[in-house]
Amino acid sequence: MLLEIERITKTYRSPLRRGPGTRANADVSLSVDAGQVYGLLGHNGAGKTTLVNQVVGLIRPDAGTIRVAGRDAVADPSFARQACSLQPQAQLPIDGLTPRQAIELVGRLRGGRAADVRMRRDRLVAALDLGQWLDTDGARLSGGVKRLVSFAMAAVSPGLVVVLDEPTNDVDPVRRRLLWAEVRQLAGEGAAVLLVTHNVLEAERSVDRLAILTEGRLIAEGTPAELKTGLAADLHLELVLEPGFPPPSPAAFVARYRPNGSRAVATIPAAAAGPAVAWAEQLRRSGVIEEFSLTPATLEDVYVQLVGGPAAHSIREVRDDRAA
Ligand SMILES: Nc1ncnc2c1ncn2[C@@H]1O[C@H](COP(=O)(O)OP(=O)(O)OP(=O)(O)O)[C@@H](O)[C@H]1O
Ligand SMILES: [Mg+2]
Repeated sequence: MLLEIERITKTYRSPLRRGPGTRANADVSLSVDAGQVYGLLGHNGAGKTTLVNQVVGLIRPDAGTIRVAGRDAVADPSFARQACSLQPQAQLPIDGLTPRQAIELVGRLRGGRAADVRMRRDRLVAALDLGQWLDTDGARLSGGVKRLVSFAMAAVSPGLVVVLDEPTNDVDPVRRRLLWAEVRQLAGEGAAVLLVTHNVLEAERSVDRLAILTEGRLIAEGTPAELKTGLAADLHLELVLEPGFPPPSPAAFVARYRPNGSRAVATIPAAAAGPAVAWAEQLRRSGVIEEFSLTPATLEDVYVQLVGGPAAHSIREVRDDRAA
């Protein structure tokens, strides 16, 4: 394994060392092999950035070990910084530099040969369709273009481990696809890619393995397919409500139900596919819903089941609401 994270624990203390502090990571272990894209998912504040910043040697764990290519990265943070490249979550200003200059500069600082760096930069710029902004001052770039330039800065002279903290934020759907292809390319060249994202559906298609963090703890880990086999129900029935209609009461076979604005999503066992279609058809005929779709459950269903949150209601809660 190129990157091994073992039992990492990190608490942020208040400057005055009063109070218990914030436990941002608790006993987190995972590993990423060369050629793998590993996704890190979790709600805001779950501890994702804290974890990846320890990998690249920016902050120090309280306990646990991190090895990059077998070498202790906690004991040797300067090795960690050299062996890993990072696209930080925060947008670093590159005012006064153009993307052409900023990408080349980082590539050179990381030790790339001038000709190689320029070649890789030009390839990345073309692959991400950034050509029209190549010579625009950094201060005048849009948010999404800045994010893509920041990705190119992390990818131009990549380390053994490439850490990407929310690389797809603010990026348009077409360029997000280009970006995912470049993430794959990095892994294809032999890097271990550790990637933080909130985009569960895209992660499902693009990562080899993933972990879900909640309140600093790792609560699930595996391939997308492995995580989905742990799901109580395996079909996803989405109802699009007629404007002004409240979501219908869930049928008896519905395992989980999430009314959400003009839509309602039910997860149901595969065995109930027939009755589910009949139920939805009947709702459509009686004018409660406009349309529906029945698809295999997604990683997002797993995520919601595991992590919950305000959008997730158990069936009982929904039924209790209706009874009230
Ligand atoms: N420098 C810091 N000092 C004190 N607490 C911090 C610091 N950085 C993060 N935290 C706290 O640690 C916890 C984890 O934060 P972290 O930034 O790792 O979360 P995250 O999963 O990356 O969230 P997001 O998805 O919003 O980026 C949060 O409770 C956060 O408030
Ligand atoms: Mg973060």
